[in-house]
Amino acid sequence: MLQIMYISSASNCAPIDVAQILTVSRRNNARDGITGLLYADGRRFLQVLEGPAEAVERAFVRIGSDPRHRAVVTLSRRAIEAREFGEWAMAHRMPGGDSDALMEQIAERLEAASPNIRATFEGFAKIRRAA
Ligand SMILES: Cc1cc2nc3c(=O)[nH]c(=O)nc-3n(C[C@H](O)[C@H](O)[C@H](O)COP(=O)(O)O)c2cc1C
Repeated sequence: MLQIMYISSASNCAPIDVAQILTVSRRNNARDGITGLLYADGRRFLQVLEGPAEAVERAFVRIGSDPRHRAVVTLSRRAIEAREFGEWAMAHRMPGGDSDALMEQIAERLEAASPNIRATFEGFAKIRRAA
């Protein structure tokens, strides 16, 4: 299985309807065996996709060309033996609540990542805290 984590910024064009993104994502992901998590604070996204490699690659190409967000930066792309972020067709997190635990879980996964990637993620986490 393949796991991809990325961050991106919401486009400025119009307010983003996260509920609509989630509805479509859950339908497609359930069909394709993809699970994961979408963190959205209205300005930025952080998503984890897990599942069969080909399906995850295909979804990521689709997501990457979606004009509702830009500046998509891949934090991590790795082969996994088992799903690490649960069985949700696409869990949703917003700032507050358990999002600190999520950021920690992601930071742990990035321990082996390059300094560049770690800095990108830390920048994201900092902006999130200031929000
Ligand atoms: C931040 C973000 C996350 C998304 N996550 C997913 C996802 O996990 N799965 C998915 O199928 N589409 C996701 N989408 C939507 C895709 O970009 C695309 O609109 C959708 O897959 C098209 O589905 P359709 O061909 O069934 O209409 C996401 C879009 C955005 C902006």
